[in-house]
Amino acid sequence: MSTTATLEYNGEKYEFPVTVGTENEIAIDIKTLRAQSGIITLDPGYKNTGSCESAITYLDGEKGILRYRGYTIEELAEKADFLEVAYLLIFGELPTRDQLDKFHEDIKDQSVVDEDMKKILDSFPKSAHPMGVLASLTSALIAFNPSSVNVSSEEEMYRAIVKLMAKFPVLVAWTLRKKEGMPLDYGDDALGYVENIAKMMFKKPNKEYRKNDVVINALDKLLILHADHEQNCSTSTVRIVGSSHAGLFASISAGISALWGPLHGGANQAVIEMLEGIKADGGDTKKYMAKAKDKNDPFRLMGFGHRVYKNFDPRARIIKKAADEVLGDLGVTDPVLGIAKGLEKEALEDQYFVDRKLYPNVDFYSGIIYRALGIPTEMFTVMFALGRLPGWIAQWREMRLRNEPIGRPRQVYVGENKRTFIDIDKR
Ligand code: CMC
Repeated sequence: MSTTATLEYNGEKYEFPVTVGTENEIAIDIKTLRAQSGIITLDPGYKNTGSCESAITYLDGEKGILRYRGYTIEELAEKADFLEVAYLLIFGELPTRDQLDKFHEDIKDQSVVDEDMKKILDSFPKSAHPMGVLASLTSALIAFNPSSVNVSSEEEMYRAIVKLMAKFPVLVAWTLRKKEGMPLDYGDDALGYVENIAKMMFKKPNKEYRKNDVVINALDKLLILHADHEQNCSTSTVRIVGSSHAGLFASISAGISALWGPLHGGANQAVIEMLEGIKADGGDTKKYMAKAKDKNDPFRLMGFGHRVYKNFDPRARIIKKAADEVLGDLGVTDPVLGIAKGLEKEALEDQYFVDRKLYPNVDFYSGIIYRALGIPTEMFTVMFALGRLPGWIAQWREMRLRNEPIGRPRQVYVGENKRTFIDIDKR
């Protein structure tokens, strides 16, 4: 395998080193291109640009492989719990029992959110989208935890990480409870990390909370499946904001905003709205398949397609199976599950989808499970954010520990050349 690559332009040759990853991914390292030649590369949407070297998540979109720190997503979803996976992603190794207990204890110690944060939450109208509320509250955490902004040592970094792992689920639960008009409450230190989240979200003020293992296991699995996905839009946002040495909370708040969009994490809400729309329109899936293929129609089959997967998204396979199990265990019948399965079958046999390698992604079936668990549609992307939190933290930590330079892309300017200013009354 060649260790250098040569670019020829205008009769000049420029040589660049080639970097090979541990899974044999090959990249031409063009860091010196501009210094050598004055030329830059152009790649809108970063379809072909590696922004960093990372040891966290491996993804092979052609083969449908996803691994966190070397462990397959299938094995982790089956055998690990979310806090274990969070530890693995952030610190690089599966924790021992003692390490996990300590991590959990440290988190519990930090799980109180300043009461004044409730005033901020109260000032939002009930109609506010939970993703906007969550991004704002996460950003507001900085004001109440100023020492978490400047992370100059690993120890300070650890403290900031623990604080966020502790306080974020409270913010998520409060965001939901505000929407539902329920009193804001704290968790219960005696419970497991995910069990505590479930209680904080679902406990009714007038009823004793009863643990439901089906709900907790489903939540655990969904959170694990969403925990990281290498350099996607929100993660890249977290890394680029953090690269300016903005603190962890500010970087994560920016990631939440990036995740909100319907082309990214917001797709889980968009999928259920699409399926409901198809149901209300008589359930004619063929009509919507035709719309998705019509280039003059902006409609897209939400929950289908992926920038990287050109095969089944392995997370979608697990979630589809889990959807059947969870709905069965909870005794829930959801007519949109049938519509989703019908759409999937048609799409997988349709030449348009086959040619473009469009398969169901993680968001196609997840909303159906969230809904069965009693989570309102507008909260779906918040659940995605809750799952993605350890991944964002791991990526931010890696970026800071590697002392990566500030993210600052270049551009090709295509605007006006130099012009002379014209006075306002002469224009
Ligand atoms: N329905 C219909 N056509 C589609 C779809 C779709 N869902 N997705 C892609 N295409 C077509 C697209 O029109 C284009 O066709 P052509 O080559 O004829 O112009 C081709 O497939 C390639 O699409 P693209 O938009 O250039 O691909 P991309 O890599 O830029 O976009 C995507 C990836 C996920 C934004 C896109 O597939 C999409 O909009 N999907 C629906 C939204 C969605 O489900 N998003 C969740 C992604 S997974 C979770 C996450 O990462 O957050």
